[in-house]
Parts: sequence; C-alpha cells; structure tokens
Amino acid sequence: MSKKIFAANWKLNKTPEEARDFVIKLKNEIFKIPDFFSGREIMIFPSAISLEAVSSLCAGTDIQFGPQNIYSEKSGAFTGENSAEVAKALKSQIALVGHSERREIFKEQDDHLNKKVALLQNLQILPVFCIGETLAQREAGKTLEICFSQLQNGLKEINKDQRLIVAYEPVWAIGTGKVATKEQVAEVHAKLSEYLSSQGFRNVQLLYGGSVKPDNAGELLKIPHVDGFLIGGASLQPDSFLKICTAV
Ligand code: 13P
Repeated sequence: MSKKIFAANWKLNKTPEEARDFVIKLKNEIFKIPDFFSGREIMIFPSAISLEAVSSLCAGTDIQFGPQNIYSEKSGAFTGENSAEVAKALKSQIALVGHSERREIFKEQDDHLNKKVALLQNLQILPVFCIGETLAQREAGKTLEICFSQLQNGLKEINKDQRLIVAYEPVWAIGTGKVATKEQVAEVHAKLSEYLSSQGFRNVQLLYGGSVKPDNAGELLKIPHVDGFLIGGASLQPDSFLKICTAV
C-alpha cells in the first residue's frame, strides 16, 4: 500500500522564525511516534520568504518541502517571481502548481501551468497540481468537466511516467469550513482516478483539500482514491497538523 500524503499549505502566513518554530515542534512530536514515516509522506509549502528557514531544518530529514508557486522560466527578468532552480538549490523536492488562489486572484491559465509542471519535471521536483470547481460550476453540474479540462490543458506536455500528485480542492470548500461530503469526494476521486489512467498517467496520487480538520480527516481518508490531503488553515499549528497526520 502506498503511503498517505499530508501536505501543509501555509499560504501567506508565518515569518521565518515562526516557520522554524513549527518545524522544531513537529519534529519533536514525530520523533515520539514509532515508524512515523513508514506509512506517511509529510510535505510543507511555506511562503517563498520562509522557504530557506524550512529548508535549514528539514533538508536531510524525511519532511519534504517546496514553494507554493514557481515561474515557468528558471531565471531572468521576471520581477517578483519564484525560481524553481532556486527552490531546487534550497533542496526543495516538491512544488505546488495551479492552486485555485493562483488561478482566481492571479489569473493563472492552464497553458502557463502546463509549462510550470514541465519545468518542475525537468528539474526533478515533484509537482503537486491543484484542480477544482467553483460553487457556480458545481451547481451547474460541471464539476467533472472542469476538473478534466484543468487536467487535460494543464498537463498537456508532461511526462506521464514521472510521478505526479493531483490535489482536488473544490473552491467552495477552501477556507469556508464547508467540507465536501464523503459522497462528493468519493465520486470525484473515483472519476479522476479513472480519467488519469485512461490518459496514460502511471504514477499519480490524489489528494483532497478544502476544510480538512482533525475531526473529519479520519473519515475522509477511508474514501477510495484519497491518498492524502492538502491542508490550509489546520496545517498552521503543529498539533492540529499532526492530529490530521495521525488520523490514518
Ligand atoms: P483550508 O484547509 O484552509 O480549507 O485550505 C485548503 C487549501 O487551499 C489548501 O491548499
């Protein structure tokens, strides 16, 4: 059985000092749990400014880390962007791509996201590619159509044999406390899994994200094709993040 994945997306939160404090506390607690990493993968996405702080404490451990966004070019005149090459130099193993906040607020489009995923693959950084529908799209019965189209267009030119993580995050469940029902998660994850294998993807894990908390994690993890979570608010404190990680 593959490991369950628990990924913390801190968004625009935590100073480098707070980030270090979180990692120190997390490592202390993990240390007390025998074989913690044998069934789990732990991932942290700090803000870019705190990436080096997290790297300094996680590099060489089993805790993976990486940026919440990268630019599609490695370097050059792109003021304000994050370089995947620099993330790699900081020993990042992972990177988020296409979070709904990037798509909505920063108007990121599928064809650009596709370039980002391809660049990450070139650098041997594991992309965690986010998809999900808005409330209006769900109510219009377009959930699967939207998710499939985000996959098709955002992953057009990538190597399907390389490992990939897809995070399904219904936009209406993010930061709202409104978690998708078990039936909704089960339906979408089953269809995503079917779709991805029909498209030739051979090594994909599927995460659910959207108001995951310690008290709903256990039930959500039992759903077939849920390989783990991408967690926002509840990942900001080591104790609630760890409670989710140990819900398995
Ligand atoms: P919340 O867990 O705060 O709903 O955020 C989910 C998310 O956007 C993770 O990427």
